[in-house]
Amino acid sequence: MPSTPHPTSELVPGAPRHVAIIMDGNGRWATQRGRPRLFGHHAGAKRVREIVEACPGFGVEYLTIFAFSTENWKRTQVEVAGLMSLFRRYITKEMKALKAEGVRVRFIGDRVRLDDKLIRLMNDLEQETEINTRVHLTIALNYGGRDEVARATRRLAQDVAAGKLEPADVDEETLPRYLDTCVLPDPDLVIRTSGEARISNFLLWQSAYAEYEFIDTLWPDFSKQEFGRLCASFGVRDRRFGAVSR
Ligand code: FPP
Repeated sequence: MPSTPHPTSELVPGAPRHVAIIMDGNGRWATQRGRPRLFGHHAGAKRVREIVEACPGFGVEYLTIFAFSTENWKRTQVEVAGLMSLFRRYITKEMKALKAEGVRVRFIGDRVRLDDKLIRLMNDLEQETEINTRVHLTIALNYGGRDEVARATRRLAQDVAAGKLEPADVDEETLPRYLDTCVLPDPDLVIRTSGEARISNFLLWQSAYAEYEFIDTLWPDFSKQEFGRLCASFGVRDRRFGAVSR
């Protein structure tokens, strides 16, 4: 293993341009403290701000975070309702700071199952921050990689049926234009916290050549320092994209 340079507040050499994070472990963090799971989600939401703020210092331009999956509806009604309420509060509370800090926020995922108030807040936050370019924060909410590919394929099929696209023109360049992430670069580094080594339906198409880091830290304990170490470690990886080292 190559040694990992110590992170500094300077730009990390060879930093990942786009980092995607599966923020796992909120429930266990709360249980360890004898508190309800939602307590962990609230602590997790606080971590988001520190990590977003750290991005420019580490040279990370795009950060994508997994806030709620298409499978998370299987949780108890109390937890789902609590998370939806947390998302509404987060947007209301953070809008001003995100705007002032130059963060452009986008949401990916299927909005149809979300409540009207949350959808309005999501639209507002996207519009209010659309001129920002310092950090591109994408929040995956009611997102599933398979669902995204299915929705993209449906729209693509509609274009074929309408004569706007020839079946022979459907290739690796065409399909991603129909994905929720069509304006984003592919992630370079995917981090999952909490010791689980799986990708749970996150950015399946986009992460084909991403580097992965599965770390034991529970999301509410994830720090700017650890984020910096992972970015620095990425900088010394040999990414070959199927070719051989030069
Ligand atoms: C997974 O941990 C976490 C979630 C399903 C929710 C992620 C949400 C946040 C970090 C909070 C807020 C985010 C925003 C954008 C405001 P888990 O509950 O599955 O943890 P466990 O595996 O320990 O049970």
